[in-house]
Amino acid sequence: MTKLIIDTDPGIDDAMAIFYAAAAPEIDLLGLTTIFGNVTAKTATRNALRLLEAAGIDAPVAHGAEAPLVLPPFKPSAHVHGEEGFGDIPPAAPRGKPIDEDAADFLCRMAREHPGELVVCPIGPLTNIAHAIQRDPEFVKNVARIVIMGGSLEEGGNITPHAEANIYHDPHAAEVVFASGARVEMVGLDVTHRVLCTEEDFEGIAVKAPALGGMLQEMSHFYLAFYRSVGKLDGCSLHDPAAVIACTHPHLFGIREEPVYVACDGEEAGMTALAKDGRAPIGVCMTVDGDAVKTLFLERLAQLP
Ligand code: BDR
Ligand code: CA
Repeated sequence: MTKLIIDTDPGIDDAMAIFYAAAAPEIDLLGLTTIFGNVTAKTATRNALRLLEAAGIDAPVAHGAEAPLVLPPFKPSAHVHGEEGFGDIPPAAPRGKPIDEDAADFLCRMAREHPGELVVCPIGPLTNIAHAIQRDPEFVKNVARIVIMGGSLEEGGNITPHAEANIYHDPHAAEVVFASGARVEMVGLDVTHRVLCTEEDFEGIAVKAPALGGMLQEMSHFYLAFYRSVGKLDGCSLHDPAAVIACTHPHLFGIREEPVYVACDGEEAGMTALAKDGRAPIGVCMTVDGDAVKTLFLERLAQLP
């Protein structure tokens, strides 16, 4: 079993990733930590609780950073995920509450309690992970892997010509993580642009899993419409699910070991590129068996209620 914490800004593809984790028999979901990004941190916490309750998962949610390390707070990307994060689905109050510990403290404690075993999968900006690294000098040694949805080595950006959104929204935090010496794996646009789902795929999930698959299908309309609006007619990228799948199925990805840095200023802010300062390499996913990842995603989701 992979002991996993997902650090998330839910978010439509975040919801897909969390429901995938709920359906994956080899994942032991130890909790969710939340972060600003697609929505505010407050909305991310509300949405994370709602997703776990919908999936019937009893796991803690720890509220995370409300602003980037250095950059000022920004307005969330409502045009991609909707004002409330789940496309056209109206907001709903969860029954539960976040735990008292904040995201970074929870991450440090879980890594300490499961040394060498905990996999952290950030699928939003990397602020909480940077806080954990800065707060506890043992975190980098205790955590087994940090498998990030973010960045791009050769694919160009999706929010600027150079930058992927999660990295762009807190480049300073990403640089802390990439330079930390922790075992980092980057599941960026080089691979997530090769894992696409169509309207028909979501229709299929909704038929097989009416409750949770139906919820994803309802959200997917908004997400697919955004992709069409930017000229991408083949479907939407499974960015965040691909990162969760890389945590347990790394053999589906071609991984290059490269040192990577993050540009923090200027026109290239948020760009991830090869570092020449002698830092430790990270695993960069450069190729993917897109059909296998998509099939796994659809088959697992079909088993949900
Ligand atoms: C990433 O940005 C967010 O919009 C998605 O949820 C994903 O984590 C893709 O660039
Ligand atoms: Ca996300």
